Amino acid sequence: MNKLIVKGKNKLYGKVEVKSAKNALLPLIASCVLLDFEVGFLNVPRLKDVDVLLEIIKSMGGKYRYDDDVLYVDCSTLYNPEIPCEEARKIRASIFLLGSLISRFHKVSTVRPGGCNFGERPIDMHLDTLKKLGVEVSNGEYLYLRTDKLKGSKIFLPFSSVGVTENLIMASCLAEGETIILNSAKEPEVVCLANFLNRLGARIYGAGTSQIRVEGVKKLQPKIKYFKPITDRIEVGTFMLCSLVTGGEIEIDGADFIHNTELIKKIHNNTCKIMLSSDKIYIKSSGAGSGLGFIKTAPYPAFPTDLQSQILAYSCFLRGTTVIEEGVFKTRFKVVDELKKMNADIERVGSRVLVNGKTELYGAEVTAPDLRGGASLIIAGLGADGVTTVSGLDVIKRGYDRIDEKLRILGGSVNEG
Ligand code: EPZ
Repeated sequence: MNKLIVKGKNKLYGKVEVKSAKNALLPLIASCVLLDFEVGFLNVPRLKDVDVLLEIIKSMGGKYRYDDDVLYVDCSTLYNPEIPCEEARKIRASIFLLGSLISRFHKVSTVRPGGCNFGERPIDMHLDTLKKLGVEVSNGEYLYLRTDKLKGSKIFLPFSSVGVTENLIMASCLAEGETIILNSAKEPEVVCLANFLNRLGARIYGAGTSQIRVEGVKKLQPKIKYFKPITDRIEVGTFMLCSLVTGGEIEIDGADFIHNTELIKKIHNNTCKIMLSSDKIYIKSSGAGSGLGFIKTAPYPAFPTDLQSQILAYSCFLRGTTVIEEGVFKTRFKVVDELKKMNADIERVGSRVLVNGKTELYGAEVTAPDLRGGASLIIAGLGADGVTTVSGLDVIKRGYDRIDEKLRILGGSVNEG
């Protein structure tokens, strides 16, 4: 049952709703460690990575509960800043707990995090930047962090890392003095975290720009009981491409199109017509267009690396050439070998792939190499001739809530097998 059976060529029609973003929820949940009161997050999907992080919080003495799509997190009873090794190794987001745990307990113990296996996932920037706030780090098989006091500092990020920016915001918002984060990540998920903490009395300025200033405060206050995170821009982009590859037309409710500008710019007028409003995207295929030219992934607002595998699959169906350069995770191309099993014409040269879209894709037995690679194979299966079996549904469930059910409602033939 850890497979999806995808029958190609069914046109997708209808409406789909996207909920709160996985990559917004994870740092938001980690930031609850800073609070001694309960908060409710609204419009929450059921995702494996979120549940792993919640279980880590519970193992340290915190509490959580779902009430339909509201997720309540209460860290007032947290007492143990030790992240269990087995759980920490399951997700990248366990590293997000360093900032909030060191801020609350002045000590943390854990192991190196897990996460999608598309190559090296170092944590050197996380540790080096926390040291600049006065944290001592012993970095072997196990990670031990401690501090007498967190003191604000000016910190330059060699790369605009999302996780490092989020960790530093959490580590500095209760520190003594002011912290300046230079070359900070501008992702919407970073802005969402800053907005949440500022609603509770934090003083975080400049989120969404390349310079974030944090004035440490004594304590965060229960000024709000509920918070609605941003919706999942990667799920939105995934559904846009699912529809296009079938020649369909769908409406995506809850989409904030501003967060998908680069994707929209790339596909609009070439292969589809798109209508935008404040909270929905309507996309109608206008037939297989020409190749997409050159796409390079990079930190926001550039084309997102988390949609790279998906647009790679989509470009296989276009009449022409597409070149994709991966500018964030240089080796994030494990799905290429799986797409080739479906007759895709893709040539890899270092951190680039060249896609020749003149070939028909055929159903095959393939395996999800990672979360977004799994979504990419679903897209390929929806457009291919025949039946595609995608193994690794557990990997896909890490970041997509009931994607098979949503695609069936839109008319896709996608079933667990
Ligand atoms: C976040 O991962 C996302 N995950 C990733 O989404 C996303 O691909 C990535 O940001 C980039 O947008 C979550 O938010 C949970 P990074 P993160 O630190 O923070 C290097 C998905 O599919 N780096 O911005 O781990 C790193 O190797 C996931 O939803 C260091 O060298 O990514 C990479 O080349 C996959 N040292 C670059 O920075 C460090 O200490 C950007 O990584 C940290 C990162």
